Amino acid sequence: MGKMKCIYIIFSLSCLRYASMTYIQAEPEFDLLIFTQQWPATACKDWKKHDSSHTCVMPSNVDTWTIHGIWPTKFGTIGPAFCNRTWLFDPEKIRPIEDQLEQLWVNIFGGTSLYSLWAHEWSKHGTCAAVLEPLNSELKYFSTGINWLQKYSMSNILKAENIVPSNTKEYSIVDINKAIKDKINVDPVIECKKEDGESYISDIRICFTKDFKIANCDGVVSRKLIGDQSILTNCKTSENIVYPHYNKKSFYVQVYKLVSWLQWFTL
Ligand SMILES: *[C@@H]1O[C@H](CO)[C@@H](O)[C@H](O)[C@H]1NC(C)=O
Repeated sequence: MGKMKCIYIIFSLSCLRYASMTYIQAEPEFDLLIFTQQWPATACKDWKKHDSSHTCVMPSNVDTWTIHGIWPTKFGTIGPAFCNRTWLFDPEKIRPIEDQLEQLWVNIFGGTSLYSLWAHEWSKHGTCAAVLEPLNSELKYFSTGINWLQKYSMSNILKAENIVPSNTKEYSIVDINKAIKDKINVDPVIECKKEDGESYISDIRICFTKDFKIANCDGVVSRKLIGDQSILTNCKTSENIVYPHYNKKSFYVQVYKLVSWLQWFTL
């Protein structure tokens, strides 16, 4: 075989490979659906940390776990994601459940569009999950989130074991993991965000197989050994973690400043 011909074949093969990776939309492959609930107080703290002018839109019950998303994933990796770039989020499709979504699937990022979280979750994850019949429309995808939150609400699961939001008491990751595992019989993933040198609980993920059976989240993050327990978490395991109340401090600081100013003014 001539050298040129050989180069040509290699070139064509790599082009084909490139095409199959970028343009040909094969059925997305994945092993699990991750259902992620988020803790709004921690999400808000993190959002404000990035920019002090950021504000949060909190659910009317500020001490409630809300939905972050349903994320198809392969073991040992992240994604697939953005499986159909032409299937855009259409708010009309979720009108029947919009009021519920506004409370349960809250976009806490103040100043962004009401739909931006839903549009992002749909484009990135929903279009991939949609290969499964029970998730093959926007309405089904978002309704499934609501159903799972009602069935597996971390607010209820943790409260049942006296694990409640507090700005004074901290909790061991082992106790939090046990409260969830005792209830659902599989291992969740517990995620933290580092704030002021402490681990704040931010997300709890539970996993489902593609036939919608609840499953261990192994393969999503690695296990950490704590005593005789192995836990799927990114939280620091050497210390307790914070499960914070939403802090309305900035509001009180403003009132305090106003009162001080009035006192100064009237004296
Ligand atoms: C992508 O989404 C569009 C709009 O819903 C649909 O018509 C098309 O069949 C989808 N493509 C694939 C590969 O699923």
